[in-house]
Amino acid sequence: MRLRVLGAAAGGGFPQWNCNCPNCDGLRRGSIRARARTQSSIAVSGDDENWVLFNASPDVLQQIRSFPALQPARALRDTAIAAIVLIDAQIDHTTGLYMLREHRRPWPVWCTPGVREDLSVGNPLFGVLGHYCGIAWRELPLAGGFAIDGAPGVRFEALSLTSNAPPYSPHRDRPQPGDNIGVSLIDAASGQRIFYAPGLGEMEPHLWAAMEQADCVLVDGTLWTDDEMIRLGASAKTSRAMGHLPQSGPGGMLEWLARLPATTRKVLIHINNTNPILDEDSAQRAELAARGIEVAFDGMEIIL
Ligand code: MLT
Ligand code: MN
Ligand code: ZN
Repeated sequence: MRLRVLGAAAGGGFPQWNCNCPNCDGLRRGSIRARARTQSSIAVSGDDENWVLFNASPDVLQQIRSFPALQPARALRDTAIAAIVLIDAQIDHTTGLYMLREHRRPWPVWCTPGVREDLSVGNPLFGVLGHYCGIAWRELPLAGGFAIDGAPGVRFEALSLTSNAPPYSPHRDRPQPGDNIGVSLIDAASGQRIFYAPGLGEMEPHLWAAMEQADCVLVDGTLWTDDEMIRLGASAKTSRAMGHLPQSGPGGMLEWLARLPATTRKVLIHINNTNPILDEDSAQRAELAARGIEVAFDGMEIIL
């Protein structure tokens, strides 16, 4: 199984177009050591030929251009993307679908009924795409595993996570099962697992069980501190209120990752541009290194 990080940043990307936080400003000026990152997406292949796209980021066209394996050039119009899985209905994970409207057949899009509803009512993206290639919705099961047509060699197991639905969801701030998911990506031959959850608001027993079972976890790295956005004056919301478990502090992601076996590869993804871990010379980044935790970047590959 081969996993390619297409975009390691959270919504807004890094640098974010209108942001002058120390990271965004520092990256533009070249005064910090950091690399730009596009918005949240990965691709996974079990045969190194056919790929499943997780999330359709607003940066999807740039992401496809920077990963030639996604364009095998077998026909006039072609793609190696067999299907798309949506982790949630947020803008950073879905608006790239508009950019993929030239597909030659309806896109197989795997998501929960709740995400489908948000993308039909709150943000009627699926309806709009009906005027172009169309969407062939596949209900993403939250129990048991599933395989995806056209993507051999890899199996999937999804679970519901407590996080938050998008602001335009009819049930924003009233989390419902299926608003956000985590997915185990399983190599069909070896059984090895990567657990992927870019938006994870709190640790829950079923989620912890999936993390413990994984050979590699690729999990929510949005914010370092719960009040990071408030302290910067960038938002009135805490990390937890936005559905993202912060890394530091009691009950934070670092405490949880420390409980995983030393052999589990630990990677943070969906990193907000304000997060000090993006500065490769920061104390927070050094703390991650000391704990054996990696920070995902665009182009990173995980091969199991
Ligand atoms: C999130 O992950 O909380 C959202 O994607 C935020 C956003 O809209 O950028
Ligand atoms: Mn997001
Ligand atoms: Zn910023």
